[in-house]
Amino acid sequence: MNEQPARKTVLVVFGTRPEAIKMFPVVHALRADPRFRVVVCVSAQHRGMLDQVLAIAGIVPDHDLDLMRPDQTLDSLTAALLTGLGRVMDAERPDWVMVQGDTATAMAGALAAYYRKVPVAHVEAGLRSHNIYHPWPEEVNRKIIGSIAALHFAPTETAAAALRAENVAPGTIHVTGNTVIDALHWVTARIAAEPGLASGLADLATRFAGKRIIGVTSHRRENFGGGLEAIAQAIRTIAERQDVALIFPVHPNPNVGRVMDAALADLPNVALIEPLDYPHFARLLAMADIMLTDSGGVQEEAPALGKPVLVMRETTERPEGVEAGTALLVGTDPARIVTEIFTLLDDKSAYSRMAKAHNPFGDGKAAPRIVELVANAG
Ligand code: UD1
Ligand code: UDP
Repeated sequence: MNEQPARKTVLVVFGTRPEAIKMFPVVHALRADPRFRVVVCVSAQHRGMLDQVLAIAGIVPDHDLDLMRPDQTLDSLTAALLTGLGRVMDAERPDWVMVQGDTATAMAGALAAYYRKVPVAHVEAGLRSHNIYHPWPEEVNRKIIGSIAALHFAPTETAAAALRAENVAPGTIHVTGNTVIDALHWVTARIAAEPGLASGLADLATRFAGKRIIGVTSHRRENFGGGLEAIAQAIRTIAERQDVALIFPVHPNPNVGRVMDAALADLPNVALIEPLDYPHFARLLAMADIMLTDSGGVQEEAPALGKPVLVMRETTERPEGVEAGTALLVGTDPARIVTEIFTLLDDKSAYSRMAKAHNPFGDGKAAPRIVELVANAG
């Protein structure tokens, strides 16, 4: 009788919306592969926004720590993550722990694995802004993960070079592309097969027919206390133009909603709406003429779709979109945001220079590459 090689147990840990979006293609690929026993642990650092992604991706977690608390602090969240994830690792005894990106969940997952000497595979490794307060606390989270991980899946050659510059062993760094492109392709195909999955924006499309659509998202902690007010002020000025409409799914962090409701709720051409599930957000990306955002993931998706994206940050760890010409860093100064938006609205050649599809973040096959690399690792 043939001996079957032992299956590797991979514990996949995530907890927020963007991690879930970028991890579901990896979970799908791992689960389809008989070489693995796959255990999914969600911290539920996010609740509603995480559950939206789990539902569309068809993932039922094996462990759900249910950690989200309203307006949670970094200290209390991180402490709860470390003990909760450690307990799951002791129960499951994984061969590998896999984390994604730069959230508190990813950082605590890597640290808990390190405390048990379990090797860590890091998806979306090597992003660096070189400023520990922009984005905050993500830049330090990913540096911590980078110093622990045994396998670094860099989305781009730039990210791989950043790791080599930090003396990470070159043989442990692999350029795979970003799994967000896998996710975007997957959800686009799902919507094509089942248009009802993304039909919920029809009312807004009718209400704003004939106007140029600007999609907005904003949630960065470093913008609390001033930055969000500045962003809201810029949106008020943009909304004075009757030829534009802004669709803004508001992040449920109470610090965001408080500012945006107070500043924007009375404007007829600004729709402040609940967070969209991923198919509807993909639909918004398709509908929008311009995206205005401080999100990491949106900076990656917009270039893939050829949507000009103005990034409301001082620095970015994703320079590829800027280099490709689809993304522009505009910071949070209202005058600058308004000027750049008006230029795109009024100058056709400026718009068409930016509105070109590029794929600096991958070809949509990152997840199978990652799975093969984990299968072949020790
Ligand atoms: C987190 C990540 C950030 C990531 C962002 C994506 C950290 C430190 N921050 O920031 O890197 O870019 O997610 O969105 O890991 N809330 C809800 N429902 C939800 C989700 C959040 O009500 O589904 C509210 C809660 O009041 C919660 C608060 O938002 O306490 C903040 O959530 P948290 O995960 O701590 O921070 P984010 O700003 O979302
Ligand atoms: N997104 C979504 N619904 C929304 C807003 C964003 O599904 O209402 C998706 C978006 O397509 C991207 C991801 O969420 O893939 C980005 O998440 P977020 O901006 O919260 O976090 P970041 O990427 O900045 O860490």
